[in-house]
Amino acid sequence: MKRQTILTYLFASLLMMTGTLNHTYAQNNKNSVIKSGTEWLDTNGHRINAHGGGMLYHKGTYYWYGEYKGDSTYWNPKVPSWECYRTEAGGVSCYSSKDLVNWTFRGVVLAPDLTNQRSDLHPSNVIERPKVVYNDRTHQFVMWMHIDSDNYAKAAAGVAVSNSPAGPFKYLGSMRPNNAMSRDMTLFRDKNGKAYQICSSEENRTLYINELTDDYLKPSGRFTRNFINLSREAPAVFFHNGKYFLISSACSGWSPNQAQYAVADSMMGVWTIKGNPCSGKDADITFYGQSNYVLPIAGKKDAFIAMFDRWNKKDLINSRYIWLPILFKSNNVIDIPWQESWNPSIAFRRVN
Ligand code: DGJ
Repeated sequence: MKRQTILTYLFASLLMMTGTLNHTYAQNNKNSVIKSGTEWLDTNGHRINAHGGGMLYHKGTYYWYGEYKGDSTYWNPKVPSWECYRTEAGGVSCYSSKDLVNWTFRGVVLAPDLTNQRSDLHPSNVIERPKVVYNDRTHQFVMWMHIDSDNYAKAAAGVAVSNSPAGPFKYLGSMRPNNAMSRDMTLFRDKNGKAYQICSSEENRTLYINELTDDYLKPSGRFTRNFINLSREAPAVFFHNGKYFLISSACSGWSPNQAQYAVADSMMGVWTIKGNPCSGKDADITFYGQSNYVLPIAGKKDAFIAMFDRWNKKDLINSRYIWLPILFKSNNVIDIPWQESWNPSIAFRRVN
């Protein structure tokens, strides 16, 4: 055999062996429940690295996008006034799953820019809370994320697009929507196809709801100011039974605080504050977590998962995830009770 053929053969065998090992790992180590706040491994046995996440359901598969955090955390010396713990921004990761419990790493779908220090995507900057929606007019997957400078002064939103849910995403750039600051953010796509970017603005004192253009790439110019001077962060929005719900946190850096939810008849408001949605152990500090997303479960009735990050501020890559089902009571009251673990395949009722 020629040397090159032997090398090719060896390389292919190695790849097959790795594939088989991964496959064997996944078969032997299937998760059956979601555990709150514990280490969560992907189907290759690696810790899931997708913080401040956002979810997308597309053609029978769930996609989980998140901050791909670098493995060392430091206190940014440029910001002595608050606990500005930082880690290298490693771009946006993606995992996929059919059962919400076992997640396969699909790669870093928005790559960091390792060479250009001035790029938004340079690891010295901040890439947080990525969210993806599908636009069925343009057939594009559109990602929005919080883009910031290393001292969080830039306060902007970045946009990227892809033709596939598992990327790669192409970065289009950043802006301040409606010329206002934008930090913690989420996206919400309404049933009529309209999409909104919801973000902490005005030094995080007021929450903006920015309607997007029909291609979801820019703000349309219509926006509302909500929870004025109430300092709400970490918004997560969903629609249930004719009402819009918005869960958010207070503003205390990486440290936990009490969550709050509000209800509205229209996405642009007016929002009525209802109170703390959490109950049980440590509900007054959101189970040591902070909201990031609410996922509606496809084909199931009254089935929504509230998702939280439990930040580990001194070791950010080792932050954990808390996912809990939302219970619906009368009069638009919701309850998110603490549970150590639960099984999504038996937690939700099928739609008949
Ligand atoms: C709280 C935010 O919700 C997080 O996403 C992050 O920006 C930290 N603040 C930084 O302190």
